[in-house]
Amino acid sequence: MSSAEPSWLHQLTSCDSTNTWALEHLEVLEHGACVWTQAQSAGRGQAGRSWVSDPGVLTASFIIKPQHEPDVTLLSLCAGLAVAHCVEDYTPDIQVAIKWPNDCFVHGRKIAGILCEGKRHAGDPYMVIGIGLNIKPQWSADAQQAPPESFFNGRPPISISELSANPVMLELITSLRQYLLESTAMIENKRWLDIIPSLRERDCLLGQNIEILKDDGAIPGIAAGIDDDGALLVQLADGGSICCTSSHNLRILDVVHE
Ligand code: BTN
Repeated sequence: MSSAEPSWLHQLTSCDSTNTWALEHLEVLEHGACVWTQAQSAGRGQAGRSWVSDPGVLTASFIIKPQHEPDVTLLSLCAGLAVAHCVEDYTPDIQVAIKWPNDCFVHGRKIAGILCEGKRHAGDPYMVIGIGLNIKPQWSADAQQAPPESFFNGRPPISISELSANPVMLELITSLRQYLLESTAMIENKRWLDIIPSLRERDCLLGQNIEILKDDGAIPGIAAGIDDDGALLVQLADGGSICCTSSHNLRILDVVHE
């Protein structure tokens, strides 16, 4: 690492996955540390999927060391909100949509994916928040050329470079980290109600048909908003409702938020 880089930044020339590397090196990673590489060879996505990181996609994992037993749903929401704020700083006319708990979209196209993983190390809980954010990938001039895995419901991904001139990688990492530290501190201080309105105004699932996937089938419902604890309320056809946490597996039929 060059002396110009901040002490919290662990830059790797290459690695399989920054999340995997972080989970295997928690002993050297402080609260607020960031593991970053420009060459991730086996990135991991949600639900066991792989994540293809072309050059120009920010691939980084941030370490949060909570003082209390972490609420994974709330911390996941913090990650989406950090991405939203960071992207919006670059694109003042755009509001990022958050597909609960934390996928980020602009114009119905995915701009970032997030993978939050918890682990205990030496008796303490850690959260590794992995973010893949499209900055200026080689496909940015023609998003149809993006890797097939990065399409969502047939729509190609989008990158910051399509919305704003000259995004700077290290500046974005610094800003993401700052927003993450601020919002996760609110969770620690039991002030998460303060971030719920920002999430609700970006909630692109509200009113959408979704399915809650179970081992024995799918339960159809309508997303009915984010409750005061960050859970997703799902209205069922029989009049009942289910409160989903980030451990629930959802199928989203579309993302609408322009
Ligand atoms: C998803 O949308 O499925 C989540 C993608 C998360 C990708 C990031 S890239 C940095 C970090 N390292 C990984 O292996 N995955 C996350």
